[in-house]
Amino acid sequence: MYILGIETSCDETAAAVVKDGREILSNVVVSQIDIFKEYGGVIPEVAARSHLEAMLPVVNKALLDAFPGKDLPADSRLAAAWQKIDFIAVTHTPGLLGSLLIGTLTARTLAILHEKPLYPVHHLKSHIYANWLNSTDLPEFPLLALVVSGGHTQIIRMTAHNQFEIIGTTRDDAVGECFDKVAKILGLPYPGGPSISKAAKAGDPKKYHFPHPRLTSPNRGEAKYSDLDFSFSGLKTAVLREVQKAVKKPISFPSHELKNLLTKQQVADFAASFENTATDILIENLKKALEKYPDTKSICLAGGVSANELLRKKVTTTFQNNEENAVATFFPERFLTGDNAAMVAAAAFYEIESGVQPTDPYALNIYPRKPIS
Ligand code: KG4
Ligand code: ZN
Repeated sequence: MYILGIETSCDETAAAVVKDGREILSNVVVSQIDIFKEYGGVIPEVAARSHLEAMLPVVNKALLDAFPGKDLPADSRLAAAWQKIDFIAVTHTPGLLGSLLIGTLTARTLAILHEKPLYPVHHLKSHIYANWLNSTDLPEFPLLALVVSGGHTQIIRMTAHNQFEIIGTTRDDAVGECFDKVAKILGLPYPGGPSISKAAKAGDPKKYHFPHPRLTSPNRGEAKYSDLDFSFSGLKTAVLREVQKAVKKPISFPSHELKNLLTKQQVADFAASFENTATDILIENLKKALEKYPDTKSICLAGGVSANELLRKKVTTTFQNNEENAVATFFPERFLTGDNAAMVAAAAFYEIESGVQPTDPYALNIYPRKPIS
């Protein structure tokens, strides 16, 4: 079964062809990082316009990379590639509205034009399914997925394919967002995750002590809170306060002044101490989740922050190398941690396998909408 995946939820325009949910035949990603580096973050309107320019060339390249049709005349190769495609899958939520609209409108138009069944896929499901791609060693159920990205921080329990239960979520900022904001405070380039990790290599992770959140009142009013929830807004503020103390100036943020007052060593120490604390917080809740669900067979990391080397190391040593209660740990291949369309196709494959029916390409529900949780 060949699925064409399309992904445009944030600042990557991506298309991929995946065979049987696991084998990547093509994977094209056009990133807008270079545009947004200059601004220190994503500008939604600019992102949507960039998707519009890149979308069709990216889809066509994904099709031709998967099915080059070298023996065919050049003008019929694309049509031949389309014939091979069985389904189209597209990220429909969550994400930036303008960005999602480009992907979903393209997918529904192509589905109508080429008469292919259409699967709108939730972005976070896709991140989890990156663990099934290009791998023979697969996660087993029940599993716990730690989904850590720029917009989300969740622990999701899966008892079977396409069965998701959110058992912990952030009450404020996502951990990726926290990496990005702390990088900004320290004057490190966007995206913050990789630049914090790079700077942290020369730093002392024990130099500064930041608090770990203690979340209470599991049920307040209508809102349901879990003791597996996260909070990252306090950590970001704690770093800012320490930086202000270190430079002996209460300069408020955002400020370009602050970073100029820090030495290279201070930046490295702040980066290392922050990275150490943020990853410890994630591990603490995963440990609690495992205590609550002792039947867990696998732990999967998913999302942009799953590229983090220190997090991977801590997850392996805490869970996989645990002599008393070892749990298999899984990480997506590095090139599949960020936004890509191969994971979208993989997620759709397991929806199809689970009996989910395709969506009418004319239906309104393929448009971006609030995630159902
Ligand atoms: O999943 P993703 O590519 O996009 C969203 O769906 O949000 O995640 C992007 C996030 C950014 O916040 C980025 O700083 C973070 O992932 N990230 C990292 C690393 N690489 C990317 N965070 C920590 N360490 C990394 N190596
Ligand atoms: Zn993502």
